[in-house]
Amino acid sequence: MPSFRAPRGTRDLLAAERSAFARLEAIARDLAGRYGYREIETPLFEQGAVFERGIGEVTDVVEKELFRIAPRTEEGESWALRPEATAGMVRAYLQHGMHVLPPPVKLALSGPMFRYDRPQAGRYRQFWQWDVEAIGDGGPAIDAEIVELGARFYREAGLPDVEILLNSIGDPVCRPAYIDVLRAHFQKEEAALPPTERRRLETNPLRLLDSKDPAMADLIATAPRLVDHLCDPCDEHFASVRRHLDGLGVGYRVEPALVRGLDYYTRTAFEFYRRGAEGQQQALGGGGRYDGLIELLGGRPTPGIGFALGLDRVVLALEALGGPPATTPASLVVVVGADPAATLERLRIATLLRADGIHARADLAVRKLGRQLEGASRDGAHFAVIVGDELAAGDVQLRDLEAGTQRPIALDDLARELKRATASHHHGVGGRG
Ligand code: HAM
Repeated sequence: MPSFRAPRGTRDLLAAERSAFARLEAIARDLAGRYGYREIETPLFEQGAVFERGIGEVTDVVEKELFRIAPRTEEGESWALRPEATAGMVRAYLQHGMHVLPPPVKLALSGPMFRYDRPQAGRYRQFWQWDVEAIGDGGPAIDAEIVELGARFYREAGLPDVEILLNSIGDPVCRPAYIDVLRAHFQKEEAALPPTERRRLETNPLRLLDSKDPAMADLIATAPRLVDHLCDPCDEHFASVRRHLDGLGVGYRVEPALVRGLDYYTRTAFEFYRRGAEGQQQALGGGGRYDGLIELLGGRPTPGIGFALGLDRVVLALEALGGPPATTPASLVVVVGADPAATLERLRIATLLRADGIHARADLAVRKLGRQLEGASRDGAHFAVIVGDELAAGDVQLRDLEAGTQRPIALDDLARELKRATASHHHGVGGRG
C-alpha cells in the first residue's frame, strides 16, 4: 500500500480523464474566441477579503468552505484559495483599470477552484470551472447572449439534454421588501424549522428557498415568489431577458425558487442541469448578474454578468452517457534496431522525426529486434523504422506493422514519407508493389 494519497475531496486526473478535460477546455477556448471573450489568469489565492466582501460573509462558500491559508509572518496577509473565479476577475478588472476599455469587457478563465465541501460524486474540494464575465453592460440582451453561450457549450461538448433554469432575484430596491415577506412566511413555522434553517431566517432568508432539507419542501412550495415582488425596472428587465431568449430559440424554465449560493447576484440568475436531475443539487453550471459587485470591491457602480460551468460534472455526465468521444492518439512511429545495443542511433532517428513534428518513440531497451517489434505493435504503432546495417549508406527499413510490409527508404526521405502515409491513411508503404 502506498503511504500517501491525494487529499480527501481531490483526485488525480489520469491521462484519459485529463484528455477529456482538455477536450472541454478546447471547446471552451474556441467558444470564448467566437463570442469575443479574452482569456485571463488570476492567482489561485487572493486576500480573503476579496471573497468575504465579494461573495458575502454569510454564504456557505465563505463561512464553511473557504480554504484559508495561515499567514507566514506577523504582518502576513490573510489569504484564501479561490472558491470561484468571479470575485478575483473583478478584482483584476479594477486593479488594472479595465474600466477605461470599451464596455462590455469580456473575460474568460478556466482553472481549478477550491471549496471545503463535503466530498461526494460530483462534489470535490478541488474542481474545475470555465468562467466568463461580461463587465459594463446592464443588459438585458447580453444576459440572453450569455445564457445562450452556456447552452451552446453543453451541446458542443456532447450533452444535448441540458435544461436551463432561469429566475430574477431582484435588486436592492425590491429585494429587501420581499425578504421581509419571505421571513414572515417562514416565521409562522419557526419552531418546526431545522436549526440551520432557523439561523438562516436571521442571516440570509433568501437561502431558505435553496434548502434541500425535506422538512422544508412544503414551506418552500408555498413561499411567496420573488418574481411576484419585483420592482418595475427589474420586472421589465426579466421580461426582456425572456423575450431575447425566446427570440434566439433558447428554451428555459422559469424557476422562482432559484436563488444561487453567492450574495453578489442581482436580477438575472440561472443554472444548467441535466434534464431530470434538477433536484439533486448538482448543477452543471450557473451564473447571473452582479450589478453591485464592482462597487463592493472598490470600483464605480458597474453592471456585470457571467457564469461558471463545472467541468468535472460535465465529464461525469458525458461518462454517464457512455464516455466522452475517445481522443484518438496520433499514430505513432517506433524506431527499433537490429543491434540491441545501438540505442544512440535509434534515439537519434526518433529525435529527428520528432523535430519534424512526427509522434515517434525510440525503443531504448537493449533487447532483440523481435521484442522491440512486439513492443511497437503493443503500443498500437502503425509504422516501425528498423535501423540496421544500411544506416551506413543512409538507409533504414520502413515497416508497415498493420500491413506487414517493409521496404528500404533513405533517411532523408523518411519524415516526408511517414507524413504522407499517416496523413492519407494509406496503409501500405509499397512493400508489395
Ligand atoms: P457556482 O454555482 O458556485 O457559481 O458554481 C458554478 C459551477 O461550478 C456549479 O454549477 C458546479 O457545476 C461547479 N461546482 C461548484 N462547486 C463544486 C464542487 N464542490 N465540486 C464540483 N463542481 C462544483 C460560481 O462559482 C459563480 N462564480 C458563477 C458566476 C460567474 N456568476 C457570475 N459569474
